[in-house]
Amino acid sequence: MTSSNLPKHVAIILDGNGRWAAARGLPRMAGHQHGAKAVRLSVRACRDRGIPYLTLYAFSVANWSRPKDEIDALMRICQEFAEGEHDELIRRGIAVQVVGDLEDIPTPTRRAMEKLVEDTAGGTEMTLALALSYGGRRDMANAMRALAVRARAGLVIPEEINEKSLRNFLTTSSMPDPDLIIRTGGEKRLSDFLLFEAAYAELFFTDTLWPDFTEETFEEAVATYSRRQRRYGRTGEQVRRLAAST
Ligand code: IPE
Ligand code: IPE
Ligand code: MG
Repeated sequence: MTSSNLPKHVAIILDGNGRWAAARGLPRMAGHQHGAKAVRLSVRACRDRGIPYLTLYAFSVANWSRPKDEIDALMRICQEFAEGEHDELIRRGIAVQVVGDLEDIPTPTRRAMEKLVEDTAGGTEMTLALALSYGGRRDMANAMRALAVRARAGLVIPEEINEKSLRNFLTTSSMPDPDLIIRTGGEKRLSDFLLFEAAYAELFFTDTLWPDFTEETFEEAVATYSRRQRRYGRTGEQVRRLAAST
C-alpha cells in the first residue's frame, strides 16, 4: 500500500464492549476495561503506519443516559487511560485532543484529560483525538451559536457565513475530515458521530466487538479503504484521469 492511498484520518466508533462482557457472563464494566487495551492497540496501529490522525468515539452525549455505575466506571477508565498512558504518549510524540464537551466530565477525569492534552501538545508524530461527551448535532449547534454571537457583535457578516466558517467552530476544526470511519460491534449507524465531517468518509463496519479488535481488523479496514474509489461527485472516469495526471 502506498502512502497516497492510506487514510490520513481514521475515526473509530468503538462499540460492543457490553456484548463482549455479556458473552462471558461478566459485568459490562469488564468489557469497557478490555476495550481500553484495544484503544492502545489502535493507537499503535495508526502510528506504525504513519497515519497522522486517529479519532476514537469513546463516550457520546447520549451515553449520559446509561446507568450511573456504568458511567462512573467509564469515567474511571478514561482517567486511568489519561494517567497510565501519559508518559508513553509523550515519548511517542502523540498529541492528544479532546473533542466534545469536557465541562460535562467529572472533575478528576476532566483534570487528567486536560493535563494529558497540555503535556502532549508538543507531539508531532500523530494526533489522537478522544471524543468524550461528544455529539455531532450538539457540536454543530455549538458552532452555530458561536457564529451567531460573533455576528451580533459585528465580528462576522451573516451573509458571508459558509461551510468553512461553520467548520472553524467545530471542536474538530484543527483536523482534516476523517477519510475512514470504522465501527466495530456490528451496528451500521453513525450514532451522532462527526455528522458534518463524515460527509465523504468511507465507512467500514465490522462485527468484531471492540475488545476483540486486533491489528488484523485494522489492516482489513485500511486495505478495504485503499481499494475504494473516492469520487466526490465526479465520474469514475474523471477520477481516473485526474489520478493519472498527478
Ligand atoms: C461501546 O460499547 C462503549 C461505549 C459506547 C461507551 P457499548 O457499551 O456500547 O457495548 P454494547 O453495544 O452494549 O455491546
Ligand atoms: C456509540 O455507541 C457511541 C460510542 C461508541 C461512544 P452506542 O452503543 O452508544 O450507540 P447506539 O446507542 O447503539 O447507537
Ligand atoms: Mg453499544
